[in-house]
Amino acid sequence: MQVTRTIAEFRAARATLPGPVGLFPTLGGVHAGHLALVDAARAANASVVSTLFLNPTQFGEHEDLDRYPADEADDLGQLEAHGVDLILVPSREEMYAAGFDTTVHVGGITDRLEGARRPGHFDGVTTVVLKLLNITTPDRAYFGEKDAQQLRVIRQLVRDLDLPVEIVACPTVRDPDGLALSSRNAYLSSEERTAALSLSRGMGLASDAFAAGERDAETLRFLVRGELEAEPLVRVDYVSLAHDETLAELQGEVTGTALLSLAVHVGMTHLIDNVTLG
Ligand code: PAJ
Repeated sequence: MQVTRTIAEFRAARATLPGPVGLFPTLGGVHAGHLALVDAARAANASVVSTLFLNPTQFGEHEDLDRYPADEADDLGQLEAHGVDLILVPSREEMYAAGFDTTVHVGGITDRLEGARRPGHFDGVTTVVLKLLNITTPDRAYFGEKDAQQLRVIRQLVRDLDLPVEIVACPTVRDPDGLALSSRNAYLSSEERTAALSLSRGMGLASDAFAAGERDAETLRFLVRGELEAEPLVRVDYVSLAHDETLAELQGEVTGTALLSLAVHVGMTHLIDNVTLG
């Protein structure tokens, strides 16, 4: 794996790679969920490129940018072991040179869920993702369903701006007990980790009820909320059952496919999870 630190260096190396090229971009804190995306890229492309950049503009002022799990050597070792050919590890200055003053804003769906809770977050994501796509020019780019809203926002960005890339979604990887893998799981104490199992448990209750014929949106949300609120260490930010594409909150009878998603704090740690119903 060739490690590059500047955009120019990356581009020179990228120009020599056989296509098709798959991209896996990450903030770091690499775990098996990330590696599943790398494996998917490896299986379908002649070359795999990656970017490792803890993008400051997608973090709010009081969020965890300064304590985000970052072990560059460990991240690079794991990515190399899974067959990444070329990676860009840029500094903040390399990505945001003095005078940088452009923001890419996707409207509509960014006002909801994580967007409502984290103002400016998705502007940070879409701006950096557009930069990373322009720098790496992949044929395919791999994103996780774990971040369901991010995936939809990026699809909209690609559609609206006619970006010549195929966005490939990969299913959420979980620990055997159901907890979705996340870089932020590293913050959890063992008590908090046990409490965090209520997320997948709650979604499981709603999925089971849905499979058994329950279609009332409020009832389905209530099932999840009940499970979360039974855990004193869990503070619910939202439980949403929304239209799969527009992310508009559903009322009354659910018809078609719906996205059940939730955000909580377990202690100081922000966790999100989701499952598709139908
Ligand atoms: P990061 O949080 O590092 O995640 C990188 C990718 O891994 C994202 O597409 C995310 O959805 C996916 N992912 C995380 N946990 C997963 C799991 N348990 N199963 C499957 N996929 C999982 O998301 C970002 O970085 C950033 O916003 C980024 C797109 C890199 C822009 O800065």
